[in-house]
Amino acid sequence: MEQLSSRLLALSPSATLAMSQKSQELKAQGLDIINMSVGEPDFFTPDHIKEAAKQAVDNNFSFYTPVPGYMSLRQAISEKLKRENGVEFSPVQIVVGNGAKQEICNVILSVVEKGDEVIIPTPAWVSYFEMVKLAEGVNVPFLCGQDQDFKITAQQLESLITPKTKVLLFCSPSNPTGAIYSKEELAAIAQVLAKYPRIIVIADEIYEHISYCGELTSIATFPELKDRVVIINGVSKAYAMTGWRIGFCAAPLWIAKAVTKLQGQYTSGCSSIAQKAAEAAYTGPQDCVETMRQAFERRRDLIFDLVQQIPGFSLTKKPQGAFYVFPEVNALFGKQTPDGKTIANASDLAMYLLEVGHVAGVTGDAFGAPNCIRFSYATSDKNITEAMSRVKTAVEALK
Ligand SMILES: Cc1ncc(COP(=O)(O)O)c(C=O)c1O
Repeated sequence: MEQLSSRLLALSPSATLAMSQKSQELKAQGLDIINMSVGEPDFFTPDHIKEAAKQAVDNNFSFYTPVPGYMSLRQAISEKLKRENGVEFSPVQIVVGNGAKQEICNVILSVVEKGDEVIIPTPAWVSYFEMVKLAEGVNVPFLCGQDQDFKITAQQLESLITPKTKVLLFCSPSNPTGAIYSKEELAAIAQVLAKYPRIIVIADEIYEHISYCGELTSIATFPELKDRVVIINGVSKAYAMTGWRIGFCAAPLWIAKAVTKLQGQYTSGCSSIAQKAAEAAYTGPQDCVETMRQAFERRRDLIFDLVQQIPGFSLTKKPQGAFYVFPEVNALFGKQTPDGKTIANASDLAMYLLEVGHVAGVTGDAFGAPNCIRFSYATSDKNITEAMSRVKTAVEALK
């Protein structure tokens, strides 16, 4: 007899992982599927980072690690934050965990009380909503359309604030839209938040290095938000290290302590070997990051042009960062597939494109944007070109 907790039953499974699984099933049946549903660089981890991991094995880094991470890694992260982001977080304010994902969840579980509201500008990453549910908080999504570049304005943010608002959680560069908040936009948001000192900001900067518009501004640089911004980041995307599972939060000390307490009872410190690899990533040469960024930028230009040629797809502006395109596809809703099924929504379209076009994307519903579909272009130019050609053919077959 199944006796699942209501906490678990309230969670939705990850749509990204579900799509990826479905595409693997079709691949196993011998079909040539191009998987553009997952969000990870297709590059290998740079050699000097792999070398550091091998050395860590040989040097017997095999014992339990400190719960918040090795001090040497936290020091390296503290220096990175100062050097690259212009923000001061001492090593004791930094907690390293199993990916940015764990640290976002840890922070939410640490500060969100039952009934607390969490404002999430959408489209937004699938997992935020589920983490808030896990903490018994209340999601306050606010859909920002393509007409406003998928970003919330300071005014819109203020209209959502209530006495129950505890957290603003946002991501820049954004998964799934690639939008990046400018310094001026962040300054306006900071000015609004200055009036509400109780609100904590969780800034997910995991795509920081995959930017096509130069230097990024972190919201943590604004003095009016001192001591209430939590920066989330990690090595997954910048250093092609998704499988190593190292991410961090840099937070006010009281939050860092709470996160450490939670992590200590839950997962303990993360892998010793992966931490040593991450330390090499932060302290070693950075040209690998730029090389990958340039490849993503070229692919962004390629896919943007190809998307323009697909009837019913609307993507008005080149994404400024991350490695996703998120076109609006609602012009196709109501059309019929060649075998007579109706495409009622973006989920139907994603399934049709997978089954007929053999290209896996993710429905916008998963990001709170039901008119859109997401494709990751963290794949080869050849795959991008072939995939968009298949999508075009499949869409052109709709009546
Ligand atoms: C917006 C966003 N935040 C966080 C993460 C998690 O990254 P990590 O691999 O460090 O857990 C992802 C991964 O896809 C992401 O897209």
